[in-house]
Amino acid sequence: MKATKWWQNTAVYQIYPKSFNDTTGSGTGDLRGITEKLDYLKDLGAGALWLTPVYPSPMVDNGYDISDYTGINPQFGTLADMEELIAEAKKRDMRIVMDLVYNHSSDQHPWFIESKSSRNNAKSGWYIWRDAKEGGSAPTNWRGIFGGSAWTYCAERDQYYLHTFAEAQPDLNWENPEVRAALFAAANFWLDKGVGGFRIDAITYIKKPAVFEDGTPDAADGMVSVHTMTANTPGILDFLHEFRREVFDGHDIFTVGEANGVSVAELPDWVGENGVFSMLFEFAHVLVPYEDGECWSKMVPWKLTKLKGALSASQAGVAKEGWYPIYFENHDRARSVNYFFPKGGDARLAAKALATILMTLRGTPFIYEGEELGMTNVKWDTIDAYDDISSHGQYELALKEGFSPAEALSFVHFNSRDNARTPMQWNDTANAGFTTGTPWLPANENYHTINAAAEEADADSVLNYYKQIIRLRKTNPVLLNGVYEELLAENEQIYAFSRTEGNRRIVTAVNFSAEEAQLPAGFLRGVRLIGSYADAPKAALRPLEAVVYEEE
Ligand code: NOJ
Repeated sequence: MKATKWWQNTAVYQIYPKSFNDTTGSGTGDLRGITEKLDYLKDLGAGALWLTPVYPSPMVDNGYDISDYTGINPQFGTLADMEELIAEAKKRDMRIVMDLVYNHSSDQHPWFIESKSSRNNAKSGWYIWRDAKEGGSAPTNWRGIFGGSAWTYCAERDQYYLHTFAEAQPDLNWENPEVRAALFAAANFWLDKGVGGFRIDAITYIKKPAVFEDGTPDAADGMVSVHTMTANTPGILDFLHEFRREVFDGHDIFTVGEANGVSVAELPDWVGENGVFSMLFEFAHVLVPYEDGECWSKMVPWKLTKLKGALSASQAGVAKEGWYPIYFENHDRARSVNYFFPKGGDARLAAKALATILMTLRGTPFIYEGEELGMTNVKWDTIDAYDDISSHGQYELALKEGFSPAEALSFVHFNSRDNARTPMQWNDTANAGFTTGTPWLPANENYHTINAAAEEADADSVLNYYKQIIRLRKTNPVLLNGVYEELLAENEQIYAFSRTEGNRRIVTAVNFSAEEAQLPAGFLRGVRLIGSYADAPKAALRPLEAVVYEEE
């Protein structure tokens, strides 16, 4: 199917407001800081900006614990600042996309405060409450996604409440129509303000099983991940169709669901004409280093064919209907150059290699702040230096599994979400130009060389490569609609694919290895549209080289 919607032919840029740009010296980024950088984002080629949550929140999970769905966190500014941001973005033909966190609220939300106060109050059934097992222990052996039991005891009710994530993030009870109505009303509030879409958080967890039972333990703590027990429970689509009818229908917006647990085969029920969202974030390609689920201590060496297979499967999944976002980074993942090139090598070339894939696969590319600069991971000396709640949970779990503190810390180094949350690197001044105060997380020390100002001035930078390839993608219909075909599928060094529309054919080839990678004779033909080395390759791709050719 031809792509006809505005959001299919654009690049989405994800902003982590807390780390983007601080205009007050508080050490925390703010909405005015985003408005100040709109020209930078426009120049890059972004058409939509997805903001991770900016609502009032105790910030236990950096805003994914919301205490008021229709307000703005004073740390970030005011509702008027948000309105100004939406208006200024619109002037530049850019849309603001908000994050809806509807599986859970904060435990400081007035709804939860009322719900937990007794067993018979007006909000009593707004969350998931269960009695203890005989003997008083938690109702089931489910482990929350950040570690520890997914249940917390509440003395006022003498009951436990369920939290898929942290204790401070109680799950809302979607079975209750009042809950759904309140959530839909909040989303409509933001539509009335003119937002251009929504990213919908952790949506596969909103439906719980009819019966709550223990599962087979999957780790040394005797628990089983709540994900295994509740993700994508049958009946979830009924809730989501109602969501679509009550909120999304009739608006020229896009919606992208975070859908860990939905397989490619199930896609048609989720996206496309009969689905509920415009797009779904798939997880298979970012989970390649894990054996089973996202347990940081259980990483395995992986071959390129595994990554290629995951990307090709998702391309095939939306070949006829539906549409995927293409991404390598977000605020929940380590920096992609470290993650996908664990053996190291020239980080600039690695960043350009990923950019080339991001911009030439079929789908809407999502760029995470700093990815366009080739920002990299940090490596702090102690677990206490890390802010991220899941890093602490995974560290504890690794210790329980018998790993030493040094080993547990090495898993955090590789995987921590803080890798992606360090301040945006604007320039070479103190704190990377992010703040004049003390940043809430220290800047990566490499900001002296990796920063937007330096890269703007350097024709060969990652930033300028991004600008060029985004332009290429937007102006080349083959990259929008062309049919995807994987090439050299067995090759463990090169990821190559073609995009074909009518008699036009574009070929992307990326060498993931630090050695030369031989190409079959005549493999690259025609005009080189872009490449990460100054000149064209000959018989082999050079280390980490990426090229895009159009055949004549
Ligand atoms: C997914 C979000 O992307 C992540 O940052 C958050 O911690 C969890 N959902 C819980 O809301």
